[in-house]
Amino acid sequence: MKIAFVATEAVPYAKTGGLADVAGSLPKELEKLGCEVKLFVPKYSSIDEAKYGLHYNWDIGEMPIRVNGIIRSSHVHQCTLPESEVQVNLIDCPHYFHRGRIYTNDADEDERFILFSKAVIEALQRMQWSPDVIHCNDWQTGLLPLFVKDNYNWDKLFDHTATLFTIHNIGYQGRFSKSVLLSAEIRKNLFYPGGPVEHDGGISFMKAGIVFADILNTVSNKYSHEILTPEFGAGLDKVLNLRKKDLFGILNGVDYTLWNPGTDKFIPYKYSLDDLSGKLMNKKFLLERFKIPFDSKVPLIGIISRMVAQKGFDIFTEAINDLMNLETQWLILGSGEQQYEHLFRQLSQTLPHKVGSYIGYSDELAHLIEAGADMFLMPSRYEPCGLNQIYSLIYGTVPIVKSTGGLADTVHDWDELNRYGLTTGTGFSFNEHTGHALYTSVERATRNFHNQTVWKKIQKNGMEKDYSWKHSAEKYIELYKLAKGKRS
Ligand code: ADP
Ligand code: GLC
Repeated sequence: MKIAFVATEAVPYAKTGGLADVAGSLPKELEKLGCEVKLFVPKYSSIDEAKYGLHYNWDIGEMPIRVNGIIRSSHVHQCTLPESEVQVNLIDCPHYFHRGRIYTNDADEDERFILFSKAVIEALQRMQWSPDVIHCNDWQTGLLPLFVKDNYNWDKLFDHTATLFTIHNIGYQGRFSKSVLLSAEIRKNLFYPGGPVEHDGGISFMKAGIVFADILNTVSNKYSHEILTPEFGAGLDKVLNLRKKDLFGILNGVDYTLWNPGTDKFIPYKYSLDDLSGKLMNKKFLLERFKIPFDSKVPLIGIISRMVAQKGFDIFTEAINDLMNLETQWLILGSGEQQYEHLFRQLSQTLPHKVGSYIGYSDELAHLIEAGADMFLMPSRYEPCGLNQIYSLIYGTVPIVKSTGGLADTVHDWDELNRYGLTTGTGFSFNEHTGHALYTSVERATRNFHNQTVWKKIQKNGMEKDYSWKHSAEKYIELYKLAKGKRS
């Protein structure tokens, strides 16, 4: 099976969130299962050519692509995804991608990803490579299925090419003004109230993806059901319901070559389920870095997150006084909305013995927190999948989560009263999106932390779980077959 995997971020080249983790690891697993995969990502100026051994593809050469009436010159640079044979195609268009950031609020944000989507198609044409499936991810690639079926319909190369559209987060939809019709050269008669690309009088890239892709999926089973409701559908639940039969949920996997306490290159002390002593040493190391006193009896709670309302910082703020009164320590890594950045900066200034924060992005620190913290908090309002709570499991870092989307599918509540005779819990979860519910879970976790027998059992339950990609990649192959069936 030939798969063109299209995403606007991928580890190790460019990352703002979990999409990069998925795009950098799922293609490798698909290849192991016998697929031929080519990955397509924009060549942002932050991508270091020498570091990744990029070479210019002369066979493809210059691709003039018209966006908003202006022809932009684009090129393809190639390399291979580490530890695989997956060919990586980086779409180079300096005008759009040399901006210092992956995503921007610039007035031509729509044009950047129109160009990217068209460039992927044009590169495939120049390679004369006819994929069985073009696997699109999130709104930035939402117009691609429409382009394949309409604008490039003339090309026989794509006669049997199907599209799969993966929704990683319905909250980000790529909504722009009607002018996209012109800039993307979308047929005018596709635009009418309630039509396939129209949303509230403008154009929605994500809606186009939902309407035109052959098959759809989200990144956990629970979220695939949630987005069919007005509460979670963010205005697209109705259109999703129309395509309910073609909508699936496949849980993200973990790249255990990168996220594994036994081999993690970022952590000074490696450890495993058989010997957790390294974990305690990592905790000490981490606390020393933040000049917070180490005490093995005080639980350290980690947070690694984009600081946006989706991630539950509203209820964290609500519960802040109660949380800070608990005998706990905190390490927070993230960046995003100013109000939350400010909150965490302030907390670490006023409670330096208790709270450490790093406002920014750091891969190294993300791994260190996973390894050194005792617990990991993820109180998301909604969470399509979520990766850090899954990473936490293998690091023996007990997750505390709101039971929603992928968090509900991957973290099983510890039943300390043993009401159901269950000792299979891997973390602590709560249902209501309130500060009180969040506080109660954290309090429950800290109480259980002091019973070392119980705590070791919870850690063991989590560390024994296997969320490697193999199983999920097999499910993707099933979806590819289903999509393919619609185009033959
Ligand atoms: P989302 O994609 O919604 O942000 P996920 O949990 O799926 O949430 O993935 C987030 C990914 O981004 C994880 O790999 C996490 O470690 C990483 N991450 C988030 N914020 C930071 C940060 N400030 N520094 C380093 N890594 C981060
Ligand atoms: C999105 C979601 C997150 C998911 C990630 C990768 O960013 O917010 O829950 O894990 O995509 O699929």
